[in-house]
Amino acid sequence: MTKACIFDLDGVIVDTAHYHFLAWKRLADELGIRFTVEDNERLKGVSRMQSMEILLGLGNVALSQHDKETLANKKNTWFVDYVERMMPEEIYPGVKALLEQLRKQGIKTGLASSSKNAKTVIQRLHIESYFDVVVDGTMVVHSKPDPEIFLLAASKLGVDSKDCVVFEDAEAGVEAALAAGMKCVGVGSPVQLGKAQRVIEKTGQFKPAELEQL
Ligand code: G6P
Ligand code: MG
Repeated sequence: MTKACIFDLDGVIVDTAHYHFLAWKRLADELGIRFTVEDNERLKGVSRMQSMEILLGLGNVALSQHDKETLANKKNTWFVDYVERMMPEEIYPGVKALLEQLRKQGIKTGLASSSKNAKTVIQRLHIESYFDVVVDGTMVVHSKPDPEIFLLAASKLGVDSKDCVVFEDAEAGVEAALAAGMKCVGVGSPVQLGKAQRVIEKTGQFKPAELEQL
């Protein structure tokens, strides 16, 4: 029986995945690396420095650790600029209602994002109080597809992995949820998320009654 739902943030609660893409794209353009929306799928769910490595790999560019960190910081400055201009209305339609319905049914809610900016984002959206537990990229060593972040969220929620359902828009996130022994609802395209028990287009269209059919 489902006792907790754990949500990814970027691309599941709000479209910050697009802001990440725009910031990486700007960096790729500066570096003369061809970078498409399809390439960006590989960056979803993974940490900032791993994303940096994937981007440089696409352009066959080798840089020192120091330069990689400088460029990743630059990308983050651009991303944070977007976040600072974000409005609470940007939360995807139906997401708050879903979180409220889950809680009413006694199901715990967690947020598990690889982003080190996750807390800032949920503060800007005024939704901190909708989650019983928030786990972010500052609290784990291994980012998705490693299951660490979901296992940490489940342990903080006091719920067994098998009783958790994860909502994810990234292939790496779906893999992490399954590796943690959890069920997963993919949010996006079945092409990337086909391993999930179910794939939906938008988080807000999910109904709590559907949890037991997973
Ligand atoms: C999430 C996003 C990734 C992002 C990562 C790190 O997993 O899906 O696109 O690169 O977090 O985010 P950060 O805000 O710490 O750079
Ligand atoms: Mg995501």
